[in-house]
Amino acid sequence: MRAKIIGTGSYVPHSVLTNSDLERSVDTSDQWITERTGIRSRHIASPGEGSSALGTKAAASALSCAHLDQADVDLIIVATCTPDMPFPSTACLIQRNLGATAAVAFDVSAACSGFLFALSIADHYIRAETYRNVLVVGTEVMSSVTDSTDRTTCILFGDGAGAAVVQGVDGENGILSNHLHSNGQRWDLICVPGGGSQQPLSETVLNERLNFIKMRGSATFKLAVKMMEQAAREALSAHHLTIDDIDIFIPHQANSRIIEATAKRLQLPMERVVMNIGQYGNTSAASIPLALDEMVRANRIKDGTRVLLVAFGSGLTWASTLIRW
Ligand code: COA
Repeated sequence: MRAKIIGTGSYVPHSVLTNSDLERSVDTSDQWITERTGIRSRHIASPGEGSSALGTKAAASALSCAHLDQADVDLIIVATCTPDMPFPSTACLIQRNLGATAAVAFDVSAACSGFLFALSIADHYIRAETYRNVLVVGTEVMSSVTDSTDRTTCILFGDGAGAAVVQGVDGENGILSNHLHSNGQRWDLICVPGGGSQQPLSETVLNERLNFIKMRGSATFKLAVKMMEQAAREALSAHHLTIDDIDIFIPHQANSRIIEATAKRLQLPMERVVMNIGQYGNTSAASIPLALDEMVRANRIKDGTRVLLVAFGSGLTWASTLIRW
């Protein structure tokens, strides 16, 4: 029994925030943002539009692509670091929105690596034959934790959602392996320190803007390149493959320079690397399924295509998933 992705979907909110919009609110320039990050615009959710709203649309599109009904879904796993509320889980809200009443639903928290962590859980449940049809969603409203006055972070993040329907099937194609890693020692490289149980929302938290992302950009950058390279090599060596065996490489979209540096270290030509950060910015757990859906819809991924997904994020967390489509 293998876990196979039989449908993908994605959704981004309509409103677009461009670099020139940001030039008007913080001390930055379109040229600096484009050259240092590759980002030109990001989509921003409307007030009241939470991660469950975006995730529901991506999930519905993935179900329709898979020709499955909501009643067929056994399990919903949602990766998000921007849940609608502390509880209930965003997965339960998506279950309600879809009317997938038979499905078990829960969230996974692994920041930008969340989608691959969730996919790995789906893979294990399917191979154990506990569940057959699993909906895996990565959805984020990063604008809810982005400090619009901090030029070092407000230029980076965007909102969006992506989803995949994973089904247990017989045969050779499907998810070949997952490799997950965590290092809590470096939790403070990128975090939202306030607004949780340790420092609940208070006047101090709000005044010190601790309910927003704090990041040590350059240290995060270096580790992202190193860990994504390691994750890719681990997946290749587990299957005695070389980089030439990979048809499509989908890295987490955090910065075009991180993606290019990782590809260079792997000696992977950019034609096989997916990069859509220019349009969406860093959408955290949504970035990989969003890019995957674009590739499926563009017909770049077909039966037998070898796809390597690699992620890195807060935690720290990093991961890879190797798929023969
Ligand atoms: N506009 C103009 N100047 C800016 C700026 C902006 N938006 N943001 C930072 N700067 C300035 C800095 O203040 C600094 O100025 P100084 O030299 O006078 O102190 C200068 O640009 C260089 O800053 P630095 O942080 O060294 O830039 P960088 O090349 O590392 O790029 C990031 C900054 C954030 C784009 C980059 O570090 C990055 O992408 N990091 C990883 C982020 C990431 O992946 N996060 C998510 C992990 S999943």
